[in-house]
Amino acid sequence: MAIDYEWVRAQFPMLANLKDDFTFLDNAGGTFPCVQSNQISEKFYNQYKLQPFGITETQAEAGRLMDAGKADMAETLGVQIADLTYGPSTTQNLTNLANALTDYIVAGDEIIVTIQDHEANIGCWERLASLKQAKLVFWQVDAGGELHLDELKKILSPKTKMLSFTHSSNIIGSVNDVNAIAKLVADKCPQKPLIIVDGVSYAPHNLPNITDLNIDAYCFSSYKTFGTHLGIMYTSNRLAKIARPQCHFFNVGVKNYSLFDAAGPDHAAIASLAGISAYYKAFAQHHGLNDAANLNEARIFACKIMAEAETKLLYKLLEFLATKPNVTIYGKKTTMGREANISFTVDGKSSKSIYEALGAKNIGVKYGHFYAYRLIEALGLDLEDGVVRLSYAHYLTPHDNDRLIAALDEIL
Ligand SMILES: Cc1ncc(COP(=O)(O)O)c(C=O)c1O
Repeated sequence: MAIDYEWVRAQFPMLANLKDDFTFLDNAGGTFPCVQSNQISEKFYNQYKLQPFGITETQAEAGRLMDAGKADMAETLGVQIADLTYGPSTTQNLTNLANALTDYIVAGDEIIVTIQDHEANIGCWERLASLKQAKLVFWQVDAGGELHLDELKKILSPKTKMLSFTHSSNIIGSVNDVNAIAKLVADKCPQKPLIIVDGVSYAPHNLPNITDLNIDAYCFSSYKTFGTHLGIMYTSNRLAKIARPQCHFFNVGVKNYSLFDAAGPDHAAIASLAGISAYYKAFAQHHGLNDAANLNEARIFACKIMAEAETKLLYKLLEFLATKPNVTIYGKKTTMGREANISFTVDGKSSKSIYEALGAKNIGVKYGHFYAYRLIEALGLDLEDGVVRLSYAHYLTPHDNDRLIAALDEIL
């Protein structure tokens, strides 16, 4: 079924409040929050912003709202409540996870990370490797920034203790085949290294079924998936047994305490997670799925339509950019194997100048290295000027796309 833009856009209050004809194309930096999430935040802050889980009705309801946020998100993802850790961001969650693995990683071990990743999924492992005298091994990219299984095959070894990589690149938009990578690791490494995946760039386009991926951890950020500012991290039972909990020792195993959350994030933000689930469910219902068995089924149905809508717009943009000989697109040149997230440079023009020219036409994009510093370096690009990035979300319409293409046609 085709996406109903009128309905979708009515779910995002930010869209109604934008000045003039504004098109936002930095959604990989953070998406607009849905009304369902905003309503819970507002309700929590106005009526339940007190220490939750007490004897009085107001305290009890605050606790129930938080529990509902966690339960609904777990059901939406098709995992157990205890499998999820909530932190202030993915960078923080991965840092906590690296701290939790200081007993697991020992001198002489090898940790594989990729050049394609955001620094959030490199720096913490580099620090862990140096702390434990382990070796950090880089899975290199090709000249176009892509990762290949042949390269991974060469660097997997009996000493490989863990591998951490991105589900898709926040720069080139290429999607890595997580199942194929997990299978290769399983075939080559009888010692069963931990497999950790950064899904921050991928999740906004199409939240995956995490338990189908055969991995030990999957991270994404709710402020990029239509909600409040949190990092969400799934961890497997195996990882939970191997890693050292980062919460207070007396909370280990206590209901609703996350093992790798050292701080305890904003209560209202936790409660508001139920709003993201409610949005996926309402989306699925509106687009024809009235009898979803659970939130997981509704989310899968909704994500498929969202991803298809983005891909249609992306196809048109790629077709247009292909007519511009002065433009270099990084990553795949077609919609196959890529998410709706495009980076490019223009011969003879800085990325900054393109960003400014689009800004002057009320089109919000960004330029630079987007914290994928090592990838921009590997692509041989200027680290400050980097690339221009256009990242879509499903609430962008063909009208937005046409505005973008018309603006680029003038500027390029
Ligand atoms: C691919 C990727 N990984 C990790 C992060 C870090 O996420 P957070 O801002 O939640 O720390 C980002 C942020 O943009 C990202 O794009």
